Amino acid sequence: MKILVVGGAGYIGSHTVRQLRRAGHDVVVFDNLSSGHAAALPPEAALVRGDLLDEGAVKAALVAHQPDAVIHFAALIEVGESMRAPARYYRNNVVGSLNLLQAIVETRKIPLVFSSTAAVYGTTDAVPIPEDAPMQPESVYGETKLMTECMIHAFHTAQGLPYVVLRYFNVCGAAPEGDIGEAHASKSHLIELAALTALGQREKMLIFGDDYPTPDGTCLRDYVHVQDLADAHVLAVEALVKGTQQAATYNVGLGHGFSVKEVLDAVDAVVGTPVPREVAPRRAGDPPRLVADAARIRQELGFAPQFTDLQEIVQTAWEWHKRHPHDFRK
Ligand code: UFG
Repeated sequence: MKILVVGGAGYIGSHTVRQLRRAGHDVVVFDNLSSGHAAALPPEAALVRGDLLDEGAVKAALVAHQPDAVIHFAALIEVGESMRAPARYYRNNVVGSLNLLQAIVETRKIPLVFSSTAAVYGTTDAVPIPEDAPMQPESVYGETKLMTECMIHAFHTAQGLPYVVLRYFNVCGAAPEGDIGEAHASKSHLIELAALTALGQREKMLIFGDDYPTPDGTCLRDYVHVQDLADAHVLAVEALVKGTQQAATYNVGLGHGFSVKEVLDAVDAVVGTPVPREVAPRRAGDPPRLVADAARIRQELGFAPQFTDLQEIVQTAWEWHKRHPHDFRK
């Protein structure tokens, strides 16, 4: 199969490109490189530098490369920034996705796998969260993902577009080879920040609140390894092209929550020395627990995560950051 990976030079995209190649598929990456890195891509993956806001560019890529399916990762992803610059998020994430959908149905009507997020649920009492939990996103970022999901459903109903939507929980870790990993310009994710603190790039870790109604008082999250998540995309795209799936939405997580303190303890164990930390006030908008009910993707796609041990997950992130303390710049 040949897969067009839109946003394939980013963190999750580049791991998915690697797993697609390992599964024997051809890959073409369409990316504006606004946050992705050409260095994260294997030489066998063709790179088309283009932007989804340029309708002609994505249509031209579909016509030129004749893919069998599209995986769509391209999006702005910072919750805080989305609240300060909503227009940028609606334009880039919603209009960009609309352009892609329109280009697909006008050229080839091939299946689509879409990157969505647990942020579509917002604060929910459901533990774990099933796919049919109410969706009340609390950020513009989450809204843009939900709006894109709605557009995909409409294109499916009106024009028969086959799709799989994957709602990611807390994506983390890096390729075990240590050559690609998380490399966002702005750092906010717990494991990445802890690794950079262990490398001395930051003074200390702040634990955002230890008075939550959880066993140790810190927030629980479902940490899914980026390579397992990449494999979920391979399973989804293969099921769509084979025709065993037409329209499905899946949570992707382990179905188990780890607390902030447990994550920092795992970092200490991997690094071999305690990472300096102190308790700070709660961060606005953090729900106490976000854990996936991931039964559906296991049953229907045969998703079987390989990285279920927290220390092993952290170990892969640590290797990447240790070898590339300044991301792809060194
Ligand atoms: N945390 C700290 N200190 C830090 C950074 C994070 O205590 O320096 C805590 C947060 O308060 C939270 C947990 O660690 O309780 C995880 O925070 P992250 O910033 O790593 O991730 P989030 O849970 O905020 O969000 C991520 C994605 C979202 C997605 C969500 C789904 O960024 O897009 O997971 O579970 F929706």
